Formats: sequence, structure tokens, C-alpha cells
Amino acid sequence: MTATLPRPVLLDCDPGTDDALALWLALAAPEIDLRLVTVAGGNVGLARTLPNALALVGLAGGRVPVVAGADRPLLGRFRDEAAVHGADGLGGVVLPPGPAATPGLAMDAIRAALRAAAPDSVTLVGLGPATNFALALAAEPALRDRVAEIVLMTGALGEGNWSAAAEFNAAMDPEALAILLACGRPVTLATLDLTAQAFVTPARIEALRAAPGGACLRAAADILASVPPSRRFGFRGVALHDPCAVAWLLAPALFTARAVAVAVVLDGPDRGRTRIDRWGRDQGAALNGRFLETLDAEGFFALLAARLGALP
Ligand code: BDR
Ligand code: CA
Repeated sequence: MTATLPRPVLLDCDPGTDDALALWLALAAPEIDLRLVTVAGGNVGLARTLPNALALVGLAGGRVPVVAGADRPLLGRFRDEAAVHGADGLGGVVLPPGPAATPGLAMDAIRAALRAAAPDSVTLVGLGPATNFALALAAEPALRDRVAEIVLMTGALGEGNWSAAAEFNAAMDPEALAILLACGRPVTLATLDLTAQAFVTPARIEALRAAPGGACLRAAADILASVPPSRRFGFRGVALHDPCAVAWLLAPALFTARAVAVAVVLDGPDRGRTRIDRWGRDQGAALNGRFLETLDAEGFFALLAARLGALP
């Protein structure tokens, strides 16, 4: 790999409460040259996620182009996750409206950014259904050579959060995820098993609120406080998903990781389940993934507070 710091990053998101913190973490990171933000219609739909992304970039003083993407998966229909993110996608936390979106379509903007980049240099970060990246790479497969790494918040080794078997992002567009997993570039997975370790408790929200910072940090604490505690964790708190994928780029020492073979189930009741082989049991399966196994949660929340605290 020829990438040098700061690494070029294209980030696709569907804000989304946890996407909001992830986007701010990326915008605050000197390790990242954030060249493009594209928006998917996951969580609460493109009519909300696009203005949310623009408002998040605007509040952070970012100048990165923000481009609208697909409002539905490659197959099937859009499904809503407002019960987690609130009807507006940011838990009712009102931000000043952001700048206008950059005209165009995400799949075209992603391809243009890849064409302009050096070989083996770009990191794709996906925080929602994988539709936009999949459309771009399916339309122009040769551009995969510009990609150094794909980092996705997606999937689960254990139980899902959308169905018994499937995590939300993987379940919303399994065909798109399958395209990325088969594209020949390494795919790093921040799954539900990892993000459960980034566990948000009332004490952690208060610590964030008490940290030095400006409007972004205060809004981040409010957004976190808006998320209903999860039944999955006995109502003690929630998993903070998407910032884990961005944190991997900034502080890999906070994680342990393992090379795996990963595929996504496309049919039947387990549709959207990620099949992750950690021990090489599927003889001959290519090691196409890197499974992020453990997270230093204290270090992760300290990173979040410090970086978001440096934003306006
Ligand atoms: C994923 O689904 C969305 O609701 C979150 O933003 C996150 O990307 C977690 O399953
Ligand atoms: Ca998301």
C-alpha cells in the first residue's frame, strides 16, 4: 500500500444519531483527508439524512462536498429505523441548517474522486447500507485499484439488531454488501460484536458533556442522550456503532483484529446475515475481511471527547 498520512477518505453515511458522531470524528481528524461525504437513505430516509449530513458538516465548519445518494437499496424497498434515531434522525436535536448539497449523484461523485486519486490510496468508509459504494464499483470496477481499504460498520458475528440474524446496514442492502465483499479489496468490519463494546451509559454521556468543547460536543452529548436504551443490553445503555469504524482509522492501537473470510447471506430468513469465518473452517475461502474483535472502550470515549471537543 502506498497511502501516506493524512489518508484520503470517502465517507458514506445515513445520519442517524451514531453517524452524526462518526462524521464529526472524521471531520476533526488530522489523520484523514476527507474528500467526499455521500449520503444514503438508510435510518430515516434520504429526505432527512441529506439535510442532517449538511447540518453536521456546517456546524463543524467543514468544507467537504456532500452529495446525495440512493434513497433505496439495490433490490427491495427502503425501511425506516426512526424508533432508534427519532423521526428527524438526530433524536430531536435541532442543528442550524447546513450549506447546500453539491449537485450530482453519489455514485458519480465517488467514481470521480477515485479517478482523481492515486492507485491503492483511498479508504472507503461506509456507515450505512452499502448501496452508494456498490453502485460506484459496479459501474466502474477498474476503480477498485484506487481503493486501499474499505471500512464498514456492518454485520454481526452473533445476533442481529434488525432480524435475529442480521444487522441493520447489512440487512438493508445485502446485495450491495456482497459487491463490496467480492471487489477484491480488503474489507474491515466493525460489527455489532465490536460496537457493543463502545457502550454508552448515562455516566459516559455526562463525561462527554463535562469535557471542554463547543457546539458540536454539546450537541453530540444531546444526540447520545436521545437514543432510547436498548432492550438488548437490559436498558442500561446503547452501543455506539458508526464512530467505531472511523476510530479504527485514527487509533488502530485501541483495537485487536483478525483476518477472516466473510460473506453475506442473500436468501431466506437469514437474509443480511454476515457469515464470518474466524478460524479458517471454510476450506479454501479467501481471507477478504478484517474482523475488529476488541475495543479499548475507555480509550475510545477519551478519543471521542478530545476530538469532538476540538470542533467549533
Ligand atoms: C447501524 O444501523 C444504523 O441504525 C446505525 O446508524 C448503524 O450504522 C447499526 O446497526
Ligand atoms: Ca449509520
